[in-house]
Amino acid sequence: CKLVEIPEPPKQYFGLIGHMPDIDPGFPIRSFWNLMDMYGPIFKLDLGGSRIILGNQELISQLFDEDKWKKVPGKPQQEMRAASRDGLFTAFLEEPNWWKAHRLLLPAFGPLGLLKMFDNMLEVGSQLVLMWDRFGPDHEIDCAEDLTRLTFDTIGLCGFNFRFNEFYSDEPHPFAKQLGEVLTESGRRGNRPPFVNRLLYFRAEQRRQENILKMWALCDKIVRDRRENPKPDANDLLNVMLNGVDRETGEKLSDENIRFQIGTFLGAGYETTSASLSFIYYHLCHNTDALRKAQQEVDEIVGDKVVTASMLPRLTYLDACIKESMRINPPVNLVNRTATKDTVLGGKYFVKKGTPVSGILRHLHRDRKIWGEDADEFRPERMLNGGFQALPPGSWKPFGDGLRACIGKGFAEQEMLINLALVLQRFQIAKADPNYTLKMKSTLTTKPDNFKMKVCRRQGRT
Ligand code: HEM
Repeated sequence: CKLVEIPEPPKQYFGLIGHMPDIDPGFPIRSFWNLMDMYGPIFKLDLGGSRIILGNQELISQLFDEDKWKKVPGKPQQEMRAASRDGLFTAFLEEPNWWKAHRLLLPAFGPLGLLKMFDNMLEVGSQLVLMWDRFGPDHEIDCAEDLTRLTFDTIGLCGFNFRFNEFYSDEPHPFAKQLGEVLTESGRRGNRPPFVNRLLYFRAEQRRQENILKMWALCDKIVRDRRENPKPDANDLLNVMLNGVDRETGEKLSDENIRFQIGTFLGAGYETTSASLSFIYYHLCHNTDALRKAQQEVDEIVGDKVVTASMLPRLTYLDACIKESMRINPPVNLVNRTATKDTVLGGKYFVKKGTPVSGILRHLHRDRKIWGEDADEFRPERMLNGGFQALPPGSWKPFGDGLRACIGKGFAEQEMLINLALVLQRFQIAKADPNYTLKMKSTLTTKPDNFKMKVCRRQGRT
């Protein structure tokens, strides 16, 4: 086949700092989206090392071939290793603890494990509904803020039987603040040249290290408390991590590694899920027809009964709303892989072994060849009745794919479904400002900016 050169935008300042000036540090992924509109579905950038960026289904789906590609933590993730070392998210595939923890924890996130977490998820979800109810119909709910309380408390309770009690305090728990600061600064460090980090961000680094020590202290306390007061009946991840024995090595996880996994689950599980839920509420409020259908489904299946685990698989329209919202607005922006051998992408673009490549999920999920001319529209119906499974492989990947796919996918889906069922059962929801249209901000994830909602108790609901 005839090979074609991968396009590369021109560099400014004689190329001394690569394409860094092309990237908006406040919203880096938007710069990628804009460049993709200009250069098409493949281009390369020099961001302190060459990286190829992909943006359609044909190219991105090839990254999921594990014979040719593997996840190597990118620069921001390598910076996060200061806090979570060889925890599941930031580990290199070569690290034995990744395999050990992956084998031990995978069943805990499977259907049976999730069923055991149902009651705790319902409890935290009910706290949110109670809080919104007490605020009353005139209160403007800051969606991202309240949903972050929900997701943080949920992972704390389901993961480690630890109550952050985010609904009972105006300020976030200190751990949530420390974690937020560490993740943000790690992301920024990963996007700056190392010499700039060394020379100009000395104090920020000092603060990051202090935060990390405080976070570790809480993780260690959670482990110590459980060792001193075992809770054999707690259906949480901590029991699995403390007591589980890896079938291949016959070993348990060390306390140090459990510390990193606790930080990992808290970090990977809260912003992603709250950003996702915020987008879903935005889309429902903006598309009254979809909202009406979602509410009708909740009325038919849940009615005025208590939400149960057996109801969840029947909430197919809500599930379609979740999938459709995650399609057009995936909260995680990129999947990153590195070529494990020389390879050719799309039959014509040569990629050398060791080259890092990123797939932009927003462009994957809006590829018109796959999703049609209305790819930019929120239309949950396209996800119903197996329409979703009939698509070419690798078309919908908000949770990534393969060995390093999101281990918390089922956890997040169950948590979101429960929350939607509880909220729609009790409330009529609407945008606080009827003229609001979606604006986005980029923190660790992408999420709606300043989206506020009002909720009004539905007649006859207690
Ligand atoms: C990895 C998305 C919720 C834990 C990932 C990846 C994505 C992702 C895109 C990387 C996949 C890849 O490179 O192929 C999301 C989204 C979520 C979510 C969109 C919510 C809607 C959660 C939750 C947890 C979690 C609730 C934990 C309770 C993890 C972990 C990894 C991961 C540990 C690393 C897995 C590994 O490399 O072994 N997630 N995630 N995530 N996620 Fe999630």
